[in-house]
Amino acid sequence: MSQYALLISPSSNRVYADASVALTRAELAVFDRAVLGGRLSDITETVLGGVRYVTFAADRLDERDVAYLANLSSIYVLFEVTGGLLRPVELRPLDRFDDDLLTIPKYPGKTNEQFTKLLLNVTLLGSAFAPEMLDRKIRVLDPLCGRGTTLNQALMYGYDAAGVDHDRTDFEAYSTYIQTWLKRKRVKHRAESGPVRRNRQVVARRLQVSLAADKESYRAGQTQLLDVVQADTVRSGEFFRPGTQDVLVADAPYGVQHGSRSAGRGLARSPLDLLAEAVPVWADLLRPGGALGISWNTNVARRSEAARILADAGLEVLDDGPYLEFGHRVDQAIVRDVLVARRN
Ligand SMILES: C[S@@+](CC[C@H](N)C(=O)[O-])C[C@H]1O[C@@H](n2cnc3c(N)ncnc32)[C@H](O)[C@@H]1O
Repeated sequence: MSQYALLISPSSNRVYADASVALTRAELAVFDRAVLGGRLSDITETVLGGVRYVTFAADRLDERDVAYLANLSSIYVLFEVTGGLLRPVELRPLDRFDDDLLTIPKYPGKTNEQFTKLLLNVTLLGSAFAPEMLDRKIRVLDPLCGRGTTLNQALMYGYDAAGVDHDRTDFEAYSTYIQTWLKRKRVKHRAESGPVRRNRQVVARRLQVSLAADKESYRAGQTQLLDVVQADTVRSGEFFRPGTQDVLVADAPYGVQHGSRSAGRGLARSPLDLLAEAVPVWADLLRPGGALGISWNTNVARRSEAARILADAGLEVLDDGPYLEFGHRVDQAIVRDVLVARRN
């Protein structure tokens, strides 16, 4: 048995304060269950030299095991503990681009990037495609994408990223940001943007970009697709074909700063009305084996009610083990939780 000690990134500590250790333990347990074959044991908090670590035991982790763990949302450094000394383990995360892709955007209502990565990870790991996360271009859709934190994380992983949001300001801000960033970083890409018309009516706006992290891949047609639509999310089925997305990831409106707007109902405090209307549409977009992960504010909607909406849409809610451990306080008004459900 080898012992490992994981140092949590200082940014995660800033974002979650006291919850970062508990969230890291839960995320680690999800990785273990999905792709490490349940080989980790004794996942716990240990103070070494006055610093908090998440420690665990495992029979020796091989290169592929470490390649998975390198993508934990909160990981800073991983050590193997040998004879009381810490030996750094080389981490090679999936990251394709400079991390300022995720850190530059700052705006009220942004879902912080560590949490966004956690939500994407635990959703993907809850799907049947978990073992493929290092090997192929996963298709990610955020049907409440705001200004694109999930989309940027998906691109960072080398995946295809699609998004829907009804807010025109968010859509335009994201379009401008991503195109400026791609140009400034000299990332090879081709962008098309404009209104979507049906029967001569503008029914949405859409940005589609194909891009590649390096010129050779671009030339070889090995591109990533970014596809963002400005429309009500309950109309997502008009823009994406059924059964085409590997994972859907959404941070629902908190009922505090951003309201949730469902058709004809104006601003509502609870996101449940929006979820009840949208989840059946979203579930239809998932490939069999795909998963939907949502986060929301439990102060305005109970977990059991959100879970019922997912189950009523025919999804299998992953409501056990580490999937029950993601609740955490964000601020005075928000206690956030996560639900992941799978389309079988
Ligand atoms: C918590 S925010 C998500 C923020 C996003 N993750 C980010 O980091 O920018 C929720 C988003 O849901 C969007 N939204 C609410 N109701 C919607 C609806 N019916 N259709 C589409 N988008 C909606 C809001 O415009 C908002 O951008």
